[in-house]
Amino acid sequence: MNVQDLEPRLLLGPGPSPVEQRILDAMARPTLGHLDPQFLALMDDVNERLRGVFGTRNTMTFPISGTGSAAMEASLANVVEPGDTVVVGVNGVFGGRLAEMARRMRAEVVEVEAEWGRIIEPGQIEDALRAHPDASVVAIVAAETSTGVRQPLDQIGRLTQAHDAILVVDTVTALGGTPVEIDLNGVDVAYSGTQKCLGVPPGLAPISFSKRALRKLENRDTPVQSWYLDVGLLAGYLGSERRYHHTAPINMMYALHEGLVALGEEGLKARYARHARVGARLQAELEERGFRMFAQEGHRLPQLTAAELPDGREEGPLRGKLLEEHGIEVGGGLGPAKGKLWRIGLMGSGATDENVDRLLDAIDRVLG
Ligand SMILES: Cc1ncc(COP(=O)(O)O)c(C=O)c1O
Repeated sequence: MNVQDLEPRLLLGPGPSPVEQRILDAMARPTLGHLDPQFLALMDDVNERLRGVFGTRNTMTFPISGTGSAAMEASLANVVEPGDTVVVGVNGVFGGRLAEMARRMRAEVVEVEAEWGRIIEPGQIEDALRAHPDASVVAIVAAETSTGVRQPLDQIGRLTQAHDAILVVDTVTALGGTPVEIDLNGVDVAYSGTQKCLGVPPGLAPISFSKRALRKLENRDTPVQSWYLDVGLLAGYLGSERRYHHTAPINMMYALHEGLVALGEEGLKARYARHARVGARLQAELEERGFRMFAQEGHRLPQLTAAELPDGREEGPLRGKLLEEHGIEVGGGLGPAKGKLWRIGLMGSGATDENVDRLLDAIDRVLG
């Protein structure tokens, strides 16, 4: 088999999203050394552009070498110590993953649950913090890719700060598609991935640490259990010292840079508006066809639509037909939603009317 033989697909699932040719071209540029001054300048520019997308002035903003889960692990590993109490919002797969990682770091995990498809109410977090006055970290998912729920953050940020705890937010599916504004929302650690609304292949995971989070890191009693993801060590490479820590994925950094340049050309506001408009249109069209939206009304992500099929139709075979007969990838359900729904992503350069038209036409054909 050769990669040249692979059939392209229209990626309208929960990620990866379509990658523009200019980004693929950027990846094909000659590989530089990871300490080459040209590369270091490019990396600094990536970090500055990421600050703009996160809505932050945090100095410690950069891409982790790895996917979103690596950044999730980095977020928790740096601010959690064994025995810490960590409050985690769990209303889907990724909240569950945060809780599992925190448990592996030997934290006392308090799960604040909501039914899949519903938000975590700020009052639930408030109750958990009142019941656990020693809680030092709150973790929550801004855009739950398993359900299509958009989690409001502002009140949770205020509650967490009033409690003097660190707020960790998963913005993997949010970043570049819906505003995250981490400074305004009082978020201390935010992380993401390149393969969703940034429209870059999977492989890097933007992350940002506030001063409060870095203070917590400096005051740890125990070393960070992960050497690779220790932000204190990574700072030696990111800062003026340029000390070798690990070899940066150079060509992925080219791709992320080009993706961020494309985003800058479009403008953040225009990009959010495009995602909002195209996502709302898809959701309305699906409802007209008898699909049922899985996420609570008023809290639906435009970039990720979770929808149950009409008339109890079995999703797997129809999803297979979309792929095999129409070259379109959508996702199935995860966990308790397995077999029940489709997850349709309109992310990054994939969020276009043309793609909605192509998908709806294919859906009409496979539903018959
Ligand atoms: C909300 C959320 N968090 C974390 C992840 C994990 O990211 P990755 O699959 O890039 O490791 C994903 C991936 O889909 C996600 O959607």
